[in-house]
Amino acid sequence: MELDDIQTITVLGAGTMGHGIAEVAALAGYDVRLRDIEEEIVQDGYDQIEWSLDKLAEKDIIGEDERDAAIESVEPVVDLEEAVDDADVVIEAIIEQMDIKKDVYQELDAAAPERTIFASNTSSLSITELSEVTDRPEQFCGMHFFNPPVQMDLVEVINGAHTAEETTDLVADLAESFGKTPVHVHKDEPGFVVNRILVPLMNEACWMVAEDFATIAEVDSTTKYDINLPMGAFELGDQVGNDVILHVLDYMHEVLGDAYEPSPLLQQKVDDEEYGKKTGKGFYDYEDGGVDVPM
Ligand code: 3HC
Repeated sequence: MELDDIQTITVLGAGTMGHGIAEVAALAGYDVRLRDIEEEIVQDGYDQIEWSLDKLAEKDIIGEDERDAAIESVEPVVDLEEAVDDADVVIEAIIEQMDIKKDVYQELDAAAPERTIFASNTSSLSITELSEVTDRPEQFCGMHFFNPPVQMDLVEVINGAHTAEETTDLVADLAESFGKTPVHVHKDEPGFVVNRILVPLMNEACWMVAEDFATIAEVDSTTKYDINLPMGAFELGDQVGNDVILHVLDYMHEVLGDAYEPSPLLQQKVDDEEYGKKTGKGFYDYEDGGVDVPM
């Protein structure tokens, strides 16, 4: 398949990443089907896309006509077979649990046309292991977006052990057609490249605060104003979702060992369901309009 043959893209999972990826694909002119397991979840994802497109239009980042065309090209779907029956590419962004993903990939493999490329937005799980439950591991790679997808330029394109070069080349071309910058990650290792760096940074920040070496404000001021990251470490956790950070870390801990042991502070945040922006509270409180990190 060539880039020009791609018309219909199905995004599985309408959560934070899924609806953001669907929005990016719709803005690039593709027909998009956004699928999740319940009507309410898909509708919520669709509403988030509308919110984001409105924001972009208000700021003249896109025109009103682009906004209208993008929202019209997204079709919310619940039935998996209907979602993928004409998909050229499926981008999967469902929950970060290996067993659940494997079940979905088996179902997907049976339902999707033979030509369909599978691209997983997993944050850290093995592309090779996921691809092996399908009969098309050579048409399977990682396509890892960053939060928020509509604002973040980078996409990691990850080779599984069985991925054909044509697949990663095509998915990299697809990322470019979305207006993104693809970076090939040639080896399928936990966390790939970005999360292998960012997630331990976030965890280390939690250990420092838990052990009373530093305050949250000190850590975030340093990461933002000295190391020059666009967000402080704790702001970033709240942006990505502390639950997502913990999922990645748990997997890295399991596969790579104790250097990646999650901090009890991070665990506590997740136990208290203080996931960050999406729940209105994380390391910062978002109910009253957000965060201003002090110098
Ligand atoms: N669509 C449209 N607008 C959005 C939006 C979205 N999805 N999300 C936020 N906005 C809006 C906000 O509402 C706010 O609007 P306002 O100006 O009307 O208040 C505005 O965008 C926020 O803009 P800011 O002025 O605060 O910030 P910038 O525009 O300068 O930058 C940023 C925002 C691009 C997110 C920047 O802070 C950044 O790069 N942060 C780092 C993010 C990052 O590193 N993400 C990757 C994390 S790792 C990951 O995702 C991997 C995963 O696997 C764990």
